[in-house]
Amino acid sequence: MVVAAAAAHTQFVSTLILGIETSCDETAAAVVADGADVRSNVVHSQIALHARWRGVVPEVASRSHTERILPIVEQALADAGVFPADLTAVAVTHRPGMVGCLLVGMAAAKALAWRHGLPLLGVDHVQAHVHTGLLADPTMSLPALSLVASGGHTALYLLTEPGTSVRLGTTRDDAAGEALDKGASLLGLPYPGGPSIEQAAAAGRRDAVDLPRTLLGADSLDFSFSGLKSALLYTLKPQQSTAPAEKPEGRRLADLAASYQEAVVDVLIAKLRRAAERHPVQSLCIGGGVARNLRLRERLAQDPVLRALRLVLPPLALCSDNGAMIAGLAHIRWRKGERDPLELDAIATPQAGGKVQMR
Ligand code: KG4
Ligand code: ZN
Repeated sequence: MVVAAAAAHTQFVSTLILGIETSCDETAAAVVADGADVRSNVVHSQIALHARWRGVVPEVASRSHTERILPIVEQALADAGVFPADLTAVAVTHRPGMVGCLLVGMAAAKALAWRHGLPLLGVDHVQAHVHTGLLADPTMSLPALSLVASGGHTALYLLTEPGTSVRLGTTRDDAAGEALDKGASLLGLPYPGGPSIEQAAAAGRRDAVDLPRTLLGADSLDFSFSGLKSALLYTLKPQQSTAPAEKPEGRRLADLAASYQEAVVDVLIAKLRRAAERHPVQSLCIGGGVARNLRLRERLAQDPVLRALRLVLPPLALCSDNGAMIAGLAHIRWRKGERDPLELDAIATPQAGGKVQMR
């Protein structure tokens, strides 16, 4: 029965790629057919494991990946109804990320590739977020602006063709998700901060508290969020005050959350507008955990400049870390004839700015 289902599934596809992602605190695997058809997408989040530290503890994360990776890969294959031998290639995040975490996914991918004689493809995690728009909508016209906003990275790219992007700006300090995580911590809201601030903000007034929007001058496409976080801190505990920091509740908490979220969204929208006015783009796509934010999505759709572009807002499950985006970008590399050796290394750091290789 399972064999018949597998054969039926694979009959009309030309590639079937398994994507594995373990760079941070999600153990994820997915099967994608022909670079766009997500056949399975299994994600195990370690949020509960790290919640009490309000951030990801690398050793705890890699140990959990080790425990989970094989069942997650098996689940992804089973959900898609395929056997390893049906796969065209195995793709895995090999940069950037916590090396101990990356190595777990890479060991699993290499073992699978070696055992079944499958090609291996290493994928850059940030570039996978950059290309998520193409996974969600392969007809998205290029060049496109691509905003990556996550817990570890916030940057703006010009996606010129599948596999090639130019970084237009990046954060000079905190990532947008990091700013939300730190802001939530100051407000006494649970980790991760993005969703908890979004939830608390629902009942709040966005203009209740005056918080700064750092735009770094009239021309910059870079981001800065550390001043916003400090402003929230000093709102709760004025610098000269010897009183303990305010612990907001109820209406006040909602107002602070809504005002803080609006300040983050305002900056993202302002930079996207600047970039759209400067570059002749056809489309705009978003990726990374912060791209799940409904207020950001609403503002993109309302903005008079940005809504003139083709907006590609991927399903929420493709925005936060997942294996499908890894398989999606690997498909682009595959089509260009690229393959990696089993000696492929894990690299902690992101690629430098300017024109970025696809990986
Ligand atoms: O892309 P991701 O899953 O992992 C990284 O590569 O960092 O992003 C995680 C980040 C966290 O900072 C989290 O607070 C934020 O995405 N996030 C959100 C939402 N869901 C997750 N931020 C705003 N609104 C959300 N709904
Ligand atoms: Zn990510």
